[in-house]
Amino acid sequence: MFSKLFGKKKESSGLRYAPHNPNGYGNWSFLGTDMHSHLIPGIDDGAQTIEDSIMLIQRLQSMGYHSAITTPHIKYDHYPNNNYNIQSGLHGLQQALHERNINFPIRAAAEYYIDDHFMQLLEAGELMPVVDNQVLVEISFMFEPVRFDDILFRIQAKGYKPILAHPERYAYYHGNMQAYHDLRNKGCYLQLNTLSLFGYYGGAVKRAAEDLLSAGLYQYCGTDMHHIKHADNLQAMLQSGVMPVLQQTPFLNTSMQLV
Ligand SMILES: [Fe+2]
Repeated sequence: MFSKLFGKKKESSGLRYAPHNPNGYGNWSFLGTDMHSHLIPGIDDGAQTIEDSIMLIQRLQSMGYHSAITTPHIKYDHYPNNNYNIQSGLHGLQQALHERNINFPIRAAAEYYIDDHFMQLLEAGELMPVVDNQVLVEISFMFEPVRFDDILFRIQAKGYKPILAHPERYAYYHGNMQAYHDLRNKGCYLQLNTLSLFGYYGGAVKRAAEDLLSAGLYQYCGTDMHHIKHADNLQAMLQSGVMPVLQQTPFLNTSMQLV
């Protein structure tokens, strides 16, 4: 389908980019809500101070996003966050936005690393969904979790739907489209990290993202915003010929309305 719509250069299997446009292809408002970011200060490797948080939110807003669901890491060995400190950090952030007259609706969920602690939270039914019953999960960059099939089954048996964060970044899946189709068939939604398509995480990740996008396998698009470098790259990406392709992709972000 994309080949009929877009021009010149074949970048990857089935995906054709429009030309680079120095005037930009609009902004990110077509996505509406960002659903993956690290904007609560001082609790993970994202924003470290309230001023960082405010600056990143202002950058999101200036690029067209109208709201965000921010997703601090919960990874027991590194970021032992919990519902309480995340909601309390969110409240402080909302207060700071209010004091500065910044109207940007924001809620909090989490990006859960799949480990034993996650399985305990799952069994207790204490997960914070991004939307409805959908929980954002990430896995090791080194290897697929042991019995990942069973884990996906258990998540769904507890009434949740998994959204796998940035599947294009797991190198052990590269070149194996069947693995991605299998994840979808096992009930997993897949979330593109926006900057993967801009080459931010390297060429192999970019190619994997292009393959997933052209196969129509993504449901969500998230910034995974941690710091100003991400904001600068998201801004620069607006000139990229991939933008028209993204603007035609029916991401579920658009159905999330925060007020
Ligand atoms: Fe993340």
